Amino acid sequence: MTPILDVRNLVTEFATQPGNPALKAVDDVSFALNRGEILGLVGESGSGKSVTGFSIMGLVDPPGRVSQGQVLFEGRDLTGLGPADMRDLRGRRIAMVFQDPMMTLNPVLRVGTQLTETLHAHEQLSRREAWSRARDALAMVGIPSPEERMNAYPHQFSGGMRQRVAIAIAILHKPDLIIADEPTTALDVTIQAQVIHEFQRLAETANTAVIWITHDLAIVSRLADRIAVMYGGRLVESGPVADILTRPRHPYTKGLIGSVPSQNSRGQRLMQIPGMTPGLGRLPAGCAFQARCARADALCRVQPELSIEGERGYRCFHPIAEQVAGA
Ligand SMILES: Nc1ncnc2c1ncn2[C@@H]1O[C@H](COP(=O)(O)OP(=O)(O)OP(=O)(O)O)[C@@H](O)[C@H]1O
Ligand code: SF4
Ligand SMILES: [Mg+2]
Repeated sequence: MTPILDVRNLVTEFATQPGNPALKAVDDVSFALNRGEILGLVGESGSGKSVTGFSIMGLVDPPGRVSQGQVLFEGRDLTGLGPADMRDLRGRRIAMVFQDPMMTLNPVLRVGTQLTETLHAHEQLSRREAWSRARDALAMVGIPSPEERMNAYPHQFSGGMRQRVAIAIAILHKPDLIIADEPTTALDVTIQAQVIHEFQRLAETANTAVIWITHDLAIVSRLADRIAVMYGGRLVESGPVADILTRPRHPYTKGLIGSVPSQNSRGQRLMQIPGMTPGLGRLPAGCAFQARCARADALCRVQPELSIEGERGYRCFHPIAEQVAGA
């Protein structure tokens, strides 16, 4: 089966001052996604998750650029596509829920207008049909009194409500791929569960593939089929979610799992990964995790290649062999 999305050796860099090297926010990232599959993309702040999403969407603006690699969507490389073709794909076939919903919403248009215009842009349908589909989409993401709220402007919604409207816009066309960047962070737990359920339903019924970007491993373990872990612009580990969470091979993944409250028994101190992510300009030569890794040695001063074991892959010279405690 051809994956719906096949990202190959993607590099996205940002130019800095003249004379200085560009910073690689995404560095040689490869992963593939089948139809209907949900991938949890995790990693600390600044690890390159959003830039990976923007790169796939063709939304990296100068001083940034995709400098190497391919983004194959149904086998067609999007990095070579012109702006008009890319616009046609966006919204209809590929959609993104941004960390900031105002990147989707227009502040001066009523929400109903924005939803129905999105529908009219790619589909032939009557005003009445568009209105009822738009209203139903608002109901699906848990907006109370959706009929009335169609007439409101974005500023009349709370932050969490605006995010829900942005999610409704993203799912309107039942796209083949949705990149959802921290979509539920601003939402309370009940609504979060509802939105997660909606994405699962979309994956099952419309075969939509989802990249779910988050810091929250608990959500990933509930929602995702596979997980990809980023650190310092690189993908350091990926594979089926249950495998990775019970038997992480990369020390950074193990550290992330250890810092999830639900994985710790009551009263036990949360494990923290010591140190901080170094800024992109200050990454050491070799493995970016060196300074924080208990297993680091002289070998780690060169960049570890990707090791493949069945459906999983990792970049580490001294992978962990044992199962995590309590898993
Ligand atoms: N427009 C830009 N110009 C320069 N550097 C940028 C730009 N956008 C992102 N970066 C850099 O790229 C790196 C990755 O950023 P990105 O936003 O993808 O991180 P992230 O994993 O999404 O973090 P968070 O969890 O905080 O959202 C960061 O070091 C950031 O400083
Ligand atoms: S390559 Fe070395 S420094 Fe990097 S995670 Fe593995 S053991 Fe740690
Ligand atoms: Mg981000």
